[in-house]
Amino acid sequence: MQITAVTLDRIGGPVQVETLELADPLDGEVLVKMGASGICHSDQHVVTGQHAAGLPCVLGHEGAGEVVAVGPQVTAVKPGDRVALNWVPSCKVCFFCERDQHHLCPVITQRIFTGYMADGTSRISRSGQPILHYSGISTWADHMVVPEECCQILDPEVPYEVAAVVGCAVATGVGAALHCGDISPGDSVVVVGAGGVGLSAVMGAALAEAGQIIAVDREPSKKHLSIDLGATHFVEADTDALGKVIELTAGRGADVVIEAIGSSALQEQWLEAVRPGGTMVLVGVPSISDSTKFVSANLIRSGKTIKGSYYAATDPGQAIEDLCSAFLEGRLPVDRLISKQVRIEDVQDAIDAMLTGSEGRSVIIYD
Ligand SMILES: NC(=O)c1ccc[n+]([C@@H]2O[C@H](COP(=O)([O-])OP(=O)(O)OC[C@H]3O[C@@H](n4cnc5c(N)ncnc54)[C@H](O)[C@@H]3O)[C@@H](O)[C@H]2O)c1
Ligand SMILES: [Zn+2]
Ligand SMILES: [Zn+2]
Repeated sequence: MQITAVTLDRIGGPVQVETLELADPLDGEVLVKMGASGICHSDQHVVTGQHAAGLPCVLGHEGAGEVVAVGPQVTAVKPGDRVALNWVPSCKVCFFCERDQHHLCPVITQRIFTGYMADGTSRISRSGQPILHYSGISTWADHMVVPEECCQILDPEVPYEVAAVVGCAVATGVGAALHCGDISPGDSVVVVGAGGVGLSAVMGAALAEAGQIIAVDREPSKKHLSIDLGATHFVEADTDALGKVIELTAGRGADVVIEAIGSSALQEQWLEAVRPGGTMVLVGVPSISDSTKFVSANLIRSGKTIKGSYYAATDPGQAIEDLCSAFLEGRLPVDRLISKQVRIEDVQDAIDAMLTGSEGRSVIIYD
C-alpha cells in the first residue's frame, strides 16, 4: 500500500513528507493505522546526528492507533484493537527481565534498533529501495508495520494523542521521577528543562507528592504550563538560576534534581543544586561523543548519587498501561501537556515549535 510518511535521508535534514510503499505485515508483525504521533527531541537528535541511527529512515517513536491487519502467527493483538506503541519491548525471560529491569532488556530491542524487522528486511521502500524503521516503530506515518511486541492494547477511553505521548515523553519523565528519583512525599525536586519529558517529570513528582517542585527553563512562557502540571515554582534559566534554586531549597539544594535537556554542561552545573545525600537523575541525552565531568572528591564527600534513567526506568509496556489508567483516573493530566496539534504535512512547524521551547508536547493527528 502507499503511505504518507516523514523521512530523513541524511544528517542535517531536511525531513521530508512523502509517499512511500509499505509492504504487508509478515510473521509476528502488525499493520497500524496511526491515530496520533508525538514529536520528541530524540527524533531531532537523529536529524542533528547527535544520536546515531541508520538512514534513510522514517522518523518517530511516539505513536498510537488502530490495528488494521496482522501477519501470520500474531497472537498479541487483532484487527480493531487500539494500541499504543512501545519502543523497548521486553522478552520477559532474560537476566534483566527476571530482575524487573525490562527497560534494559536487550533481546528484542537490539534487533529493532537496527531499523529492520525480525527477518532482517524492511517493510518500507521508495522506488524499490529500502527505508529503515527508526526505533522499530517509525510512527511519523499514517500507517506503519510494527513488531507485535511493540503493541500495548489501550482502554477505549484513552485518546490516541494521550496514548502516543505516554509512549515516550510521559513514561520517560514519570519513570525518571518515580523509579530513578525515588521521590518520597514532601521531597524537594528540581526539573531542569520543561519540555515533554521534563514536564512529565514534574507530573511524576506531583504524583509522588513532592513538597516542592521547581521547574527550570529558558523559555519564560513555560511558567504557566509548569505550574498547571504540578510545579510549585518556576525559575527562568538565566545566569542566576542556580543561585535562585539553592535559595528556594533552604540553601541546601534539592533532594532530587532531574536534568531533562541533554547537555553535559548543564548536568555538571546542576549537580550543584543536589543537596548532600541527594540524587541527580540524568534523563536528557547529550551527544554520544560528549562526556560529563565532575569533581569525584566532592561527590564522595557529599554522598550524592548520579543515576542514568532510560525510558520508563521499569517495564515500559506496564508503564504505558499504568500511566494511561492514571490519566483516566484524573491523576495525570497528560491531555494538558499536549499544546499543539498538526497534520503530517506540517511536521516541520511542530519541530520548529519544539526547538523554540514554547510547546509542551506537539502531536501529529491523522484522519
Ligand atoms: N532517557 C530517555 O530514555 C529519554 C527518552 C526520551 C527523550 N529523552 C531526551 O530527553 C531530552 C528532552 O526531550 P524533550 O522531548 O522533552 O525535549 P523538548 O525539546 O520538548 O524540551 C526541552 C526543554 O528544554 C528547554 N531548554 C533547552 N535548553 C535549555 C537551557 N540551556 N536551559 C534551560 N532550558 C533549556 C527548552 O526550552 C525546552 O522546554 C532530550 O535530550 C531527549 O533526547 C531521553
Ligand atoms: Zn522520545
Ligand atoms: Zn528480556
